[in-house]
Amino acid sequence: MDIANSIYSGSEGWTQLEEVIREYSKSGVYILVDENTKRFCLPVLRNKCEGLGESLVIEVHSSESNKTISTVEKIWLELVSAGATRKSLLICLGGGVVSDTGGFAAATFKRGMDFIHIPTTLLAMVDAALGGKTGVNLNSIKNQVGVFALPEAVFIFTEFLDTLPARQKLSGYAEMLKHAMIDSKIHFEQLLAAASPEKVFDEFHILESVAVKMKIINEDFTETGLRKALNFGHTIGHAIESYSQKYDTDPLLHGEAIAIGLLCESFISLRIFGMDENDLKKLASLISSLYPHYRINPATVDELLALMSHDKKNANSSELNFSLIRNLGEPVYDCFPDEKLIRESLHFYMNLPAGFYVS
Ligand SMILES: NC(=O)c1ccc[n+]([C@@H]2O[C@H](COP(=O)([O-])OP(=O)(O)OC[C@H]3O[C@@H](n4cnc5c(N)ncnc54)[C@H](O)[C@@H]3O)[C@@H](O)[C@H]2O)c1
Ligand SMILES: [Zn+2]
Repeated sequence: MDIANSIYSGSEGWTQLEEVIREYSKSGVYILVDENTKRFCLPVLRNKCEGLGESLVIEVHSSESNKTISTVEKIWLELVSAGATRKSLLICLGGGVVSDTGGFAAATFKRGMDFIHIPTTLLAMVDAALGGKTGVNLNSIKNQVGVFALPEAVFIFTEFLDTLPARQKLSGYAEMLKHAMIDSKIHFEQLLAAASPEKVFDEFHILESVAVKMKIINEDFTETGLRKALNFGHTIGHAIESYSQKYDTDPLLHGEAIAIGLLCESFISLRIFGMDENDLKKLASLISSLYPHYRINPATVDELLALMSHDKKNANSSELNFSLIRNLGEPVYDCFPDEKLIRESLHFYMNLPAGFYVS
């Protein structure tokens, strides 16, 4: 299986997309959007793809809180009333919430209709739209229900990023950093040298990041081994994300929490495997200069540990499963750091001066 072959971008991508739409035009093409991608991205898509004609648009509400089975039900119902069949096509035009819910709705509609992703956030371009994981949250627990289902193709058009808010861009940038760190020192240095994330939103850097994920997915689609490397930064990151969603009126975005997770888990990587301290300092410097410092106090640490033990990746709650790196470009998975070290890593983040910088 070579899933990477179904990723298209640039002008070749637009031509290929026209072809796909033509192929499905007789059996029905449906476009899934949220209110923001309807406003900012749908006009661009319609303008570029004449073949879309008056295809039915299905609109869902944006935001993580709508990544639910009732949103999926709404999509199924609209597809039914529009007369969609298994041979129709669903175009998921949006960020990770649209690709996760849309992919799941399509994969389960009449036992599976075809779908494609046109990611419109940086995070969805480099991560969520790739790799075939689809699903929804259940009672606010992330991604509890879902299936592995691959889209027919993924189209990466960086022009959609023009309207994406800066904070959302930084959220995606954290996943690019993760890919770079598990890929190689050169890749990491490249992102660092770009200094401001604005500069790395060009197609070249995005496709480099895509390639890291696709290479791993091609080797281990169902996450029995190597794919776990993509969870680097996510054991602590997910706990911080859930904590923030529970307590903050304006919670951290996924990537903002992952940036903290990357830092803490690099600290653990240094302690267990001797990851280069200089690289940890560079990462700390970058993250503290790009992302706001999140307040964590000693009481928070207890709750974060409890949240980590609920993480679905842990076979049992007494051992926390981490994906770490021995060094840049050397991922290592199924690591079980002790609780004391996890606490220390959170204290390392807590004590980092805001705007901490090494040259
Ligand atoms: N399936 C996977 O492998 C995978 C991997 C990583 C993340 N995810 C999931 O992805 C989700 C997060 O995705 P996200 O960060 O893309 O969030 P999102 O889908 O919520 O999009 C973020 C915001 O940007 C808006 N938006 C999207 N494109 C826009 C554009 N071009 N211009 C202006 N506004 C735009 C959206 O309406 C939304 O308000 C989470 O639910 C996460 O669990 C899935
Ligand atoms: Zn992530």
